[in-house]
Amino acid sequence: MVLSLQHFALGVPDLKAGADFYTAFGLNMHEGADCLGFRCDGRDHDEVVLIETGQPRKFQYISFGSDHAGLARISKALQERGVAQLDPPLPDAPGGLWFRDPDGNSVNVHFANNNGASPEQVPAVNRPGVMSRINQRGCPPFDIAARPRKLGHMILFTTDVPRQYKFYVDVLGMQVSDLIADGFAAFLRASGDSDHHVMGLLKSTAPGFHHASFEIGSIDEAEVAAARLLGAGGKHAWGPGRHGVGSNYFHYFRDPWNGMAEYYFDIDYITADCDWEPQEWTKKDGMFLWSADGPPPQDFGQNYEIH
Ligand SMILES: [Fe+2]
Repeated sequence: MVLSLQHFALGVPDLKAGADFYTAFGLNMHEGADCLGFRCDGRDHDEVVLIETGQPRKFQYISFGSDHAGLARISKALQERGVAQLDPPLPDAPGGLWFRDPDGNSVNVHFANNNGASPEQVPAVNRPGVMSRINQRGCPPFDIAARPRKLGHMILFTTDVPRQYKFYVDVLGMQVSDLIADGFAAFLRASGDSDHHVMGLLKSTAPGFHHASFEIGSIDEAEVAAARLLGAGGKHAWGPGRHGVGSNYFHYFRDPWNGMAEYYFDIDYITADCDWEPQEWTKKDGMFLWSADGPPPQDFGQNYEIH
């Protein structure tokens, strides 16, 4: 079944603004056929694809990775439910399975075995009564660079959170990690060992793209990068802070079309054999334990694909 989140595609009015934003955010860019691809440091596949449409920004598709057995099971589940398989929407798009979810979003699952960022040495941290870093300065280098390691998750708006997550659970083998009450949101992980969520669903009156989130190496790296991004004209959205759902530290920025990109660090990780019990959170507690700028801004949950 689905083992990883691979990439997503947005249709955007012009590519130049996207190139400026995502490269300032820290991603590496390359030009594809009629699109731009962006990937994190050390990754060998695109994680963000921008397609110039000349129209307001619109979510195009989400792409997951699986193995051969998983692809066969998903193909069978699609057949059993009468879900039609489609052709890839772009010349550069991956092969594998293409179909639509109940909201009409285009979804791809293809063979990929590149889940996760490369292991890194863990910096020693001194805590009360536990001195792990001794006789050594702990402040990171002042030229620490923004270096997102992987696309960790993305959040999509939906008109029906339970209907959507049931499809992703039943057909793609994803698992519910946590919910926010009253059908407001659901957070899904992949079917093997997985970050707490690789996909989230957020209630709206129409489908659309909410945000994509990228793993970063430390809070220091996130906030030094944030200062640079804002200094270069980037637009702050929310943070830094710590989520309840997933436990990750976060800092959100507005992209040029009022979607968002997030730096995250220290998300919960759940193994395939764990009997993880989903929790139904209140909206407040699920959203944040603390944030330096207080509660989320009023338009944090706004679906800017509704015109
Ligand atoms: Fe996020």
